[in-house]
Amino acid sequence: MKKTKKKNDFRWGIATSSYQIEGAHDLHGRGPSVWDVFSHSKGRVKNGDNGDIACDHYHRFPEDIKLMKDLGVDSYRFSISWPRIFPIGTENKVNQPGMDFYDRLVDELLENDITPFVTLNHWDIPQGLEDLGGWTNRDMVEQFVKYSHYLSRGLGDRVSNWITHNEPWCISFLGYVEGRKPPGLKNEWAKSLHTAHHLLLSHGKAVPEIKSNVKNAKVGITLNLNTAIPASDSEYDKKECAFYDAQFNRLYLDPLYKQKYPELLFDRLLEKEAIKQSDLNFIQEGDLKIISTPTDFLGVNYYSRAVIRDESIDEKLNENHKIPMGPKTDFGWEVYPRGIYDLLKRLQDEYNVNEIMITENGCSYGDAPDKNNKVNDIKRVEYHRSHIEQILLAVDEGIPCTGYFAWSLMDNFEWAEGYSQRFGLIWVDFESLERVPKESYYWYQNFLKSQK
Ligand code: FCB
Repeated sequence: MKKTKKKNDFRWGIATSSYQIEGAHDLHGRGPSVWDVFSHSKGRVKNGDNGDIACDHYHRFPEDIKLMKDLGVDSYRFSISWPRIFPIGTENKVNQPGMDFYDRLVDELLENDITPFVTLNHWDIPQGLEDLGGWTNRDMVEQFVKYSHYLSRGLGDRVSNWITHNEPWCISFLGYVEGRKPPGLKNEWAKSLHTAHHLLLSHGKAVPEIKSNVKNAKVGITLNLNTAIPASDSEYDKKECAFYDAQFNRLYLDPLYKQKYPELLFDRLLEKEAIKQSDLNFIQEGDLKIISTPTDFLGVNYYSRAVIRDESIDEKLNENHKIPMGPKTDFGWEVYPRGIYDLLKRLQDEYNVNEIMITENGCSYGDAPDKNNKVNDIKRVEYHRSHIEQILLAVDEGIPCTGYFAWSLMDNFEWAEGYSQRFGLIWVDFESLERVPKESYYWYQNFLKSQK
């Protein structure tokens, strides 16, 4: 594959998140997160798995950083476990041993010439804050600003790259409409909207807070976005697709970049009687201005596209127009590399985003070590190769995409799927915790060499 035009500016990285890899759930004063409680509740996570030990990265981070160094990435995106810093959440003093862990992690990264990208909220908020209503409660905004303040003050002398939230859609929609993530509620559309709003508002308020503590800070938010297309030309599917796009993409992009919410979403929810008019009183004067506070980049997590059909319509009515689908990963997500190009183009054309970083992109395949201890995950190699190709095409066309973080360094706790879905470039034996680099790890290593 050819080199990127502005190769010196483009960052090549790898990503993880705290609850998915750290383990050490009750060490050094860490309080319970919503994910500890959720994963320990019966029936919430496949096979009853939890993140108590996960990859034990908390103890093995020097080994993991060595693997990153050998891989050749210049950047590493990880997240902070909020309840390591504030065990209940409401404290006004940090839990120093928790802070010390991230201090050591950052120092070790810098010693290895790897630039840290810190995500503040990758979902594992303190249960103590959830007990007060979590993100449905507007007070969370100030809690998040406080947390951002202490973190950026503590690490800001060495960390310049900050991501406020990871994938607000997963928190608000999967947490309150589908119930697949904490707090596990279903069809609570009003709570879902309030959650989205408070996440966005807290992001907007945290941006200047971080900047005031960190010299030359680059601050952004990470959204999971996709390209949505109707499954047929029928008016039903088109209407359903517009609704999907509004709740998945535009609910976040429109306020961040256009200072407004997509009316279409509220209208449809009122029409479906999923919310009442009074549920929409959550937007206070000045909120949208704060939400749209300019950022330095937009983080984008892309995995697949969405092909939308109106499920309430008889299959026979629109089956003629079904579009062909690509192969699926072990998670059942369609492999559709062109979608990442289409998305980048949309972000430029429709939202005029100043800078974009792909903060996650990856796939789940179960390939395990063979008798020679080799993991021949060729489908993963092709997944990353084909997506990077599309990104570089966009870069060549002048779309301001400046980085790529593969998800993920190693197999880990994949939320409600437990350890059953493997996204890593490194295979993890969850009994012995041995790490085995997969073929995709060596492919990425060679690719990164070719970019130097
Ligand atoms: C994203 C999450 C990440 C990981 C991948 C597969 O939605 O941000 O933690 O679970 O999906």
